[in-house]
Amino acid sequence: MLLQGKVALITGAASARGIGRATAATFAAQGARVIILDLDESAARDAAASLGDGHLGLAANVADEGQAQQAVARVIEHFGRLDVLVNNAGITQPLKTLDIRGGDYDKVLDVSLRGTLLMSQAAIPHMREQKSGSIVCMSSVSAQRGGGIFGGPHYSAAKAGVLGLAKAMARELGPDQVRVNSIAPGLIHTDITGGLLQDERRHAIIEGIPLGRLGSAQDVANAALFLASDLSSYLTGITLDVNGGMLIH
Ligand SMILES: NC(=O)c1ccc[n+]([C@@H]2O[C@H](COP(=O)([O-])OP(=O)(O)OC[C@H]3O[C@@H](n4cnc5c(N)ncnc54)[C@H](O)[C@@H]3O)[C@@H](O)[C@H]2O)c1
Repeated sequence: MLLQGKVALITGAASARGIGRATAATFAAQGARVIILDLDESAARDAAASLGDGHLGLAANVADEGQAQQAVARVIEHFGRLDVLVNNAGITQPLKTLDIRGGDYDKVLDVSLRGTLLMSQAAIPHMREQKSGSIVCMSSVSAQRGGGIFGGPHYSAAKAGVLGLAKAMARELGPDQVRVNSIAPGLIHTDITGGLLQDERRHAIIEGIPLGRLGSAQDVANAALFLASDLSSYLTGITLDVNGGMLIH
């Protein structure tokens, strides 16, 4: 059991076919007590209950400082510690540059980038005090290759911002034995991508993937497990590509 005795909070983890939910189930199977945080309270509670006993579902908007602080306070009250934070919540919009309005920009950057900062700010004091912790941030291949598959340029910018934020936090928090790493998934088959990709487009994309398939949520969950656990004890500030070879750099 790679996460026995660990307490792990995963944001955006209520979505049934999502990366966050697969990560939650993988962590629970490895002995972690998991907190599923998402916008809707009953969805978060149901998702937590689906993992078995001893897990917690919490409602919070990661882009709201008060709600982020309150959610982590509830975790500490309930479990007494926090070992792993997975900043997974994110939204995308398939817009072209000239179509991005201020409200679109705010929505997309607020969830991925501000949300990653606010949730990390809430978690870090506890991890610092424990002198241990692992923060995993969900970026995207879109940040590295300049989008072009799914999200608009503001999504690429948000996810590139996540990489910079994670690297800078890694440098700052290393002396406290708090590790911060990112995952850059390629095209993963979830609700974000599910209904929206026509068959023809899907085939064209798969032709450009050396491993010959879209990724699964489990592929990303396995990478998150590695970064959350002590298997990656000497890794901080890295970006782990989970993209089937779609981008090799
Ligand atoms: N699916 C892909 O191909 C892909 C590729 C690269 C990166 N990603 C990233 O992986 C992460 C998970 O994506 P997914 O495909 O599982 O998406 P998903 O839509 O299945 O899950 C996202 C979850 O985030 C929650 N959420 C949205 N805004 C929130 C907020 N303000 N506060 C709290 N929760 C919020 C949603 O309710 C949802 O449950 C996202 O950050 C996404 O950008 C996905």
